[in-house]
Amino acid sequence: MGTGTDTGMGTGTDTGVGLLWLCAVLLALPGAWGDCQDVPRFSFAEPSGPTNKSYPVGSWVRYKCRPGYTGVSSKSPLVVCLPNSTWASDPDFCIGKLCREPDIENGKFHYSTDLRFGATINFTCNFGYRLVGQPSAQCILNNNEVIWDNTPFCEIIPCEPPPVIANGQFSGTQTEYTFGLAVTYTCGEGFSLIGSSTIYCTVDSESNGVWSGPAPECKVVTCENPVVENGKKLTGFVEQYTYGDTVTFECLPGYFMNGSHTVKCGADNAWNPPLPKCDQRYCGHPPSIPFAELMGTVSSSSPAGTTVTYRCSPGYAAGGGTSLEVTCLGNTSWSVSSKSCTRQQCTPPKIQNGFVKGEDFLFGTTVEFSCRDGYVLQGSSSAKCVASGNGVRWDVSLPTCKTAGQLTVLCGEPPAVANGRHNGTKGEFVHGSIVVYKCNHGFTLAGGSSIRCTARDELHGVWSTPTPECRGGATTIIVGILPLLLALLVMSF
Ligand SMILES: *[C@@H]1O[C@H](CO)[C@@H](O)[C@H](O)[C@H]1NC(C)=O
Ligand SMILES: *[C@@H]1O[C@H](CO)[C@@H](O)[C@H](O)[C@H]1NC(C)=O
Ligand SMILES: *[C@@H]1O[C@H](CO)[C@@H](O)[C@H](O)[C@H]1NC(C)=O
Ligand SMILES: *[C@@H]1O[C@H](CO)[C@@H](O)[C@H](O)[C@H]1NC(C)=O
Ligand SMILES: *[C@@H]1O[C@H](CO)[C@@H](O)[C@H](O)[C@H]1NC(C)=O
Ligand SMILES: *[C@@H]1O[C@H](CO)[C@@H](O)[C@H](O)[C@H]1NC(C)=O
Repeated sequence: MGTGTDTGMGTGTDTGVGLLWLCAVLLALPGAWGDCQDVPRFSFAEPSGPTNKSYPVGSWVRYKCRPGYTGVSSKSPLVVCLPNSTWASDPDFCIGKLCREPDIENGKFHYSTDLRFGATINFTCNFGYRLVGQPSAQCILNNNEVIWDNTPFCEIIPCEPPPVIANGQFSGTQTEYTFGLAVTYTCGEGFSLIGSSTIYCTVDSESNGVWSGPAPECKVVTCENPVVENGKKLTGFVEQYTYGDTVTFECLPGYFMNGSHTVKCGADNAWNPPLPKCDQRYCGHPPSIPFAELMGTVSSSSPAGTTVTYRCSPGYAAGGGTSLEVTCLGNTSWSVSSKSCTRQQCTPPKIQNGFVKGEDFLFGTTVEFSCRDGYVLQGSSSAKCVASGNGVRWDVSLPTCKTAGQLTVLCGEPPAVANGRHNGTKGEFVHGSIVVYKCNHGFTLAGGSSIRCTARDELHGVWSTPTPECRGGATTIIVGILPLLLALLVMSF
């Protein structure tokens, strides 16, 4: 090995390996002796000594890594001549040496494979910095060591000095203004700062240092005292209004705001948005509501806040009551009533031993009554649901169904008399009922004072006669004057 040549039938283990191969070949292919020509070439390694033109099967050649490459410990640097006359070796038994990770402050480096000998990397800088030097570097050989052929650096981007403004100055004077640095402007006494008070050094799309915005202005700004007719200020009570002052308004009761509640004193010495107005608003004629009538006289134009009342038509009701209301709103439309007038329903009639015929029991409906076989209807054979007061009721008292034995003789309403009244105002008038008559003041009864219900046949009754009468006027006068006349007669004698 001293000569660097390490080919052919080596010693020790190498010889053993070679012999094994040889034996294997002799057993498999008896008599097939071959040899290998020209040792292989590798980019990363070269024979460690002189080479022969031809090598017998089983011999091996030792390689050494080329400069910039280093051996891989797990791989063999020997190249062996196989029985089929080809060379065999571990793949990539030498790899490029590793360049040190580059140090780049405020930046990054990028690579596609690795950082070994021959590799190329690119550099980029963080936002606000720019690269000084070449943007890429290669891992190269230098005195048998590998290094990067170029080491750029990232420099912070500078801005021009901040603008100087009239009637104001900025804080934080520097010799150099660089990325990220902010300056804050203030105005002199009596001047308002218009715009952004702070600007900072940033970077435009072409990586040039620029200020984040224009420098503010220092101006004298005054807005006149804001007055809103029919309205009043809620906030912003000061002597003198200047840039940025805000005022909020409210309208007096009955007036509605057209415009913004809040205004701000602008750089142009005007209120922005313009001052609001407080107007009176009117609604047109109130809406018509089904099955309801407006109460009272209603104008065709009502100021906002006006409430009008509707009454449901007879037989209709609205949520427990019979009236509903709508109000003229600030947006000139009438409010929508949550209630509506709906047709009312009479109590569903029940007839023992009988039937009720009718679709429903709503206001205006007529139902018919009939009895089961063996029963006779006593009373009205139909009833109509009619309006009564704020509600509805059946127009007659409900009939009953009776067997022949239970039938009762009934009389109709007792006859009415002029200038008098009777106590038979309601209920059924069965056989034997008595109704008593009374005359109005100044009238006297003629005939009996009462009548009685008497039977005409087994179902129907009639009132007894004569029907009482109320007489008055002349009789009363004569009766009252008679003693006076008598007295006069007596006195004249
Ligand atoms: C290579 O050639 C030299 C000289 O000709 C010889 O001594 C050596 O044994 C050869 N090696 C092999 C492996 O044939
Ligand atoms: C020679 O033999 C080796 C191992 O037996 C095999 O991998 C290789 O492909 C062979 N080469 C040719 C050219 O036959
Ligand atoms: C390096 O930059 C070159 C040229 O801009 C580009 O083609 C290449 O893809 C870059 N490589 C990496 C790893 O960013
Ligand atoms: C508000 O005022 C503007 C202009 O003064 C007017 O055009 C607009 O109709 C008003 N709006 C209402 C709801 O009164
Ligand atoms: C008026 O205001 C009421 C309640 O805020 C709303 O329901 C209605 O739609 C408004 N009408 C119009 C015409 O804007
Ligand atoms: C009418 O009054 C009389 C005497 O007070 C009474 O007997 C009779 O029952 C009354 N009739 C009715 C229908 O109330």
